[in-house]
Amino acid sequence: MKYITVKEAIEKGSGIVSIKGWVYRERKSNKFAFIVLRDETDIIQCVINKEKVPEKLFEEAGKLTMESSVKFTGEIKEEPRAPTGYELIVSEMEIVQISEPFPISKDYSPEFLLDQRHLWIRSRKMNAIFKIRHTVTGAIHDFFRSRGYYEFDAPIFQPNACEGGSTLFEVKYFNDKVYLSQSWQLYAEAAVFSLGKIYNMGPTFRSEKSKTSRHLAEFWMAEMEAAWMELEEAVQVGKDEVRFIIKKVLENNIKELEILKRDISKLKSYAEKDYPTLSYTQAIKILKENNMDVEWGKDLRTIEEEELMKHFDTPVAVIDYPKEIMAFYKQRRLPKPEEAPADVALCFDMLAPEGYGEIIGGSQRDTSIEELKKYLEMQGEKPEHYDWYLDLRRYGSVPHSGYGLGVERVVSWICGLDNIKDAIPFPRTMLRKSP
Ligand code: 4AD
Ligand code: MG
Repeated sequence: MKYITVKEAIEKGSGIVSIKGWVYRERKSNKFAFIVLRDETDIIQCVINKEKVPEKLFEEAGKLTMESSVKFTGEIKEEPRAPTGYELIVSEMEIVQISEPFPISKDYSPEFLLDQRHLWIRSRKMNAIFKIRHTVTGAIHDFFRSRGYYEFDAPIFQPNACEGGSTLFEVKYFNDKVYLSQSWQLYAEAAVFSLGKIYNMGPTFRSEKSKTSRHLAEFWMAEMEAAWMELEEAVQVGKDEVRFIIKKVLENNIKELEILKRDISKLKSYAEKDYPTLSYTQAIKILKENNMDVEWGKDLRTIEEEELMKHFDTPVAVIDYPKEIMAFYKQRRLPKPEEAPADVALCFDMLAPEGYGEIIGGSQRDTSIEELKKYLEMQGEKPEHYDWYLDLRRYGSVPHSGYGLGVERVVSWICGLDNIKDAIPFPRTMLRKSP
């Protein structure tokens, strides 16, 4: 017997086919058993008619419970009333396993579904999200490779902080300690002197004490770094990357977006429109004009990002945040822009619309050893721990820039999810480490 997928069976549309999968829904009467079968591709209604099959088969079919694994052979035909427009009239059946009562039937509280994650990932919703995530990560590789970037890997065990000590995960390392990677960046800055333009996508760890719908303790960051690149060009690469990702999802995942009930017209506009750039100072002005109580010099919080994004219907790049509140490696903009009351950094965040907030953070990197040391000290770090990093400013230093894109933030936005936890198969947060 040659088995084909449910999708292939539907595409064939007529004749005898054999399929295998799991019982997604079942409904039985005296004369019929209606089994909706699912596999990795789709679902299809399978009908077992008592009058048309051996008595034993009909009896056995009565035992099929939700999530039982089963193989069917029969005739496929169009049936407008069936959930995917086709129906299989079963003539042969092989039960592989009768499932015990499946724990997920009606109770859909998000916490319950997270406890049952190992089973819930079979749902159509999670299946659709995973397929979109697959497109997103594939698109990131395609985007950078097609532009001549090399993939470059950095260690996950790292001796230093990149993004500040407060979110470091400490790990016992033989008789010493190390931290789990907060970013690939510091190693990337070393590697651009060899490879020029590089990228990477890898697990990233932050011990975020926040319980928001945007923060994970383990997430995937897609980063790029390039020698001879200034801030403006890095911002442009970021905009091109995001548009490229959205285009690929629209090319490959319309069906999944429909399952998720995503407004596809919005995604189409994100794939086509240009994204504006504005400065932090201009952002503060917009917020003040809209009666927000904000002060120049403080980082934008979620509520401020949300208010700001009400004024835009595409992603926006916000550049030139106050130097004093930025990570130590972001270069000061010289001369100071007239509009800003104090020094700003050559940096940017890309904010997504529809309340999804920051999806990219990046900057031009400081090349001054004195400045780097000063800001490391201000942030409570010992400059001597960063000696190897400072070497990069001693031997053929050049302007260079890079950024990191949060894969789950982007997947969450593209899929229109309520919580970032659904953008990763097995989420890790302050309050969740299993299954
Ligand atoms: O803005 P961040 O902290 O930037 C960096 O780590 C730089 N070193 C990157 C670089 O320049 N190479 O993080 C980058 C992005 C954020 O914009 C956000 O999308 C995502 O990573 N991110 C998180 N996503 C999920 N959960 C968290 N806790 C995240 N923290 C950051
Ligand atoms: Mg950031």
